[in-house]
Amino acid sequence: MYYFGQFGLDRKDQHVGLANQQYSSQSASDFAQTRFVHHSLPELKLEDVSLATSVASLDFAHPFFINAMTGGSERTGKINQMLGILGCFGKIPLASGSVSAAIKDPSVAETFSVMRRENPHGIIFANLGAHHDVDNAKRAVDLLEANAIQIHVNAPQEIVMPEGDRDFSMWLKNIEILVRELDVPVIAKEVGFGMSRETVAKLASVGVQTVDISGTGGTDFAKIENARRAFHDYDYLEGWGQSTVVSLVEVMSLPADRRPQVIASGGIKNPLDIVKALALGADLVGMSNHFLQFVKDGKADRLEEAMQAIDRYQTQIAEIMTMLGAKTVADLRKTDLILAPAVQNWCQARGIDWTAYARRSAEK
Ligand code: FNR
Repeated sequence: MYYFGQFGLDRKDQHVGLANQQYSSQSASDFAQTRFVHHSLPELKLEDVSLATSVASLDFAHPFFINAMTGGSERTGKINQMLGILGCFGKIPLASGSVSAAIKDPSVAETFSVMRRENPHGIIFANLGAHHDVDNAKRAVDLLEANAIQIHVNAPQEIVMPEGDRDFSMWLKNIEILVRELDVPVIAKEVGFGMSRETVAKLASVGVQTVDISGTGGTDFAKIENARRAFHDYDYLEGWGQSTVVSLVEVMSLPADRRPQVIASGGIKNPLDIVKALALGADLVGMSNHFLQFVKDGKADRLEEAMQAIDRYQTQIAEIMTMLGAKTVADLRKTDLILAPAVQNWCQARGIDWTAYARRSAEK
């Protein structure tokens, strides 16, 4: 096991502590400043709205899940146990944190597999870095009896991480091999730095059919890793990357026949953020730090509250969809959106027609 940093804590424990310190319940600015055009006649009733979606050949009753976080230490094992219980009783899909800790040290395998033990029938994604070989990826899938595996790409995090990797030359080639050799769907995932359309096009070209564009606006791993450095000397890299809204607009600018399915994550805090992400083209939405808040102590005392939040979000997503006249998740892509000013500027520079988002309902 690793022991780094000023408190002598395990790296995974530090990540949880530092992510928790930066959490804010406020919507990220690109989400807050992206607005739906309100139309007064929805011509729809709540009971007719369906929240179902399908990603990576898996069916989801609701369009949000708890995204990758942790495992690998005693404390994070307890967090994963709470997440497993939440997955089972809250009926919400889950992703584990990177399983690499268990591959290096099998004695911590239980801190991941506990998620499956507590949640025998739910959807669980395993998670691993993009340099791992097929055998390791199979081990990660087996450990969690995972329905899919997220392969994370996190170059800025590695660069700022004191003990991080410096060789990213084989990631794309390796992802191609993983997609070809694994029996479960592979989701290529950022960790909060966002994706460009060029990145997504390259991933699609090697067979990736689902990406998680995980953008800025929420947990910032440049900031987390910088806090773990003795001299905090990479503070200027904090905020690196594209926002979740920008990343969605980037990926949707690819032609539909060359575009993978999209999971949106990064700074998602409430049902309106979820609905906006879906309207911007996401098929499914992931939340990490927001759900960490309920389980960060590894105790069950806030699980009831978390389950109520999940229920409430489901109802409120359906209510917002009703206001918008969207019967299905796909219908949300026909709603009218005025993109945040910062996103408009980005689109201008990147040759993306942001005005088209504001006139979609007329094209029904
Ligand atoms: C993460 N994230 C993450 N991602 C990943 O692919 N593998 C991992 O092991 C981890 N570990 C991790 C630990 C903690 C404590 C947090 C909060 C997050 C990144 C996560 O899945 C997500 O991409 C970002 O956190 C952005 O989403 P939020 O937190 O803003 O909702």
